[in-house]
Amino acid sequence: MSLELTAPTPEAPDVAEDGVWLADIETGETYAPFDEIRYTGADGNLLEVRYADPPTFEDFRGQGRGVWRYHAALPFDEGVSLPEGATPLHRAPRLRETVGVRSLRIKHEGMNPTGSFKDRGMTVGVRVAQKLGVGRLACASTGNTSAALAAYGARGGMQTLVLLPAGKVAAGKVAQAALHDARILEVDGNFDNCLDIVQDLAQRGEVYLLNSLNPFRLEGQKTIGLEILEEFREDNGRFPDRIVLPVGNAGNTSALYKAFRELVQSGALDPAEVPKLTGVQAAGSAPMVEAIEHGWPDTERWNEVETIATAIRIGNPVNAPKALPGIRGTGGTAVAVEDDAITEAQRDLAKEGIGVEPASAASVAGLKKLREKGVVGSEEDVVCLTTGHLLKDPDAAYEAGNKPEPVPNDPGAVLEHIGAQ
Ligand SMILES: Cc1ncc(COP(=O)(O)O)c(C=O)c1O
Repeated sequence: MSLELTAPTPEAPDVAEDGVWLADIETGETYAPFDEIRYTGADGNLLEVRYADPPTFEDFRGQGRGVWRYHAALPFDEGVSLPEGATPLHRAPRLRETVGVRSLRIKHEGMNPTGSFKDRGMTVGVRVAQKLGVGRLACASTGNTSAALAAYGARGGMQTLVLLPAGKVAAGKVAQAALHDARILEVDGNFDNCLDIVQDLAQRGEVYLLNSLNPFRLEGQKTIGLEILEEFREDNGRFPDRIVLPVGNAGNTSALYKAFRELVQSGALDPAEVPKLTGVQAAGSAPMVEAIEHGWPDTERWNEVETIATAIRIGNPVNAPKALPGIRGTGGTAVAVEDDAITEAQRDLAKEGIGVEPASAASVAGLKKLREKGVVGSEEDVVCLTTGHLLKDPDAAYEAGNKPEPVPNDPGAVLEHIGAQ
């Protein structure tokens, strides 16, 4: 099977351009990468970008910082850049102590230009759109994709159209899409309904689709995994045992797995060194967890989804056929967490100075739960991915945090109020 961790480097087919092509993950059918606009293979199967020459760590040395440091693992040498990537891998000593693991690092993707990991996908995706010569970009979004697409589309001088579930997108994200000049369509439905519509528009040739169904988006997102491996090894002389990440459409899970598979192909990484990919979903929106628990090859669509973590309020994860083999192939797992555990984890991170939106905190909530159940061991080196910045969802932050206390306009009264002598 083509998505196995130890699958050999594929032979370049005739359709390859500079050693790059697209392949149907189910049938193996190959396609030229840039001759025509193509999002899926036969029967709507997912496509994957393939390379004749997978990268080694040496290829990245001396290539600067951020996503384009990893151009040896990407289809281009440069993209439409703001720039993105090179996000911090924070230590969180108090949280590490509470959770009880050997080491805990927080890869804070909220520190990207528009405040989420989506920028990594868009720097590549919008570059592909330029190459294909398309004029109008579009996405369905729980918010962050729309903010990133609007900013990168603006940077690339293109029109953007975003479809959002009405009333279910955090304020900071709508504000970003609006100011970066996207046309915002609010759909009376959930994210999955928005994606159905935008896929329809894309099939009719009206827009270029930049959801993570577009395989080029995931190429940029692979660099999260590459940065984690490089920095962790530089600090510790080994790779982390586990990477815990929030899951919505399962794009990051698929992308990180692909990054690891390509390093295994080139011989840069031993299969035994690959971190266990561990996905976390909100209990009210957990089709991936259900599929892992039942051993299913794909997810079953949840039509009713609800969670405070609106960024991962997704009932039909389109990348599941790529992500499920990733979780299984690395020996990872998936777990669902309740909304109050997400808010508690958001506070835990904030107490370490790390401000994240609710969906991001799901990773830490999931780690705590798996540690309590003994699924994660005390000797493990763990990296949690936090996917979006606190300011993305100011309402959730306000609800989770201390409330402002009104005081009189008088120093004495203020002293008295804070209980000082
Ligand atoms: C903050 C945040 N976290 C997690 C996700 C889910 O990411 P993925 O679709 O890669 O699973 C999203 C995307 O919708 C997001 O905006």
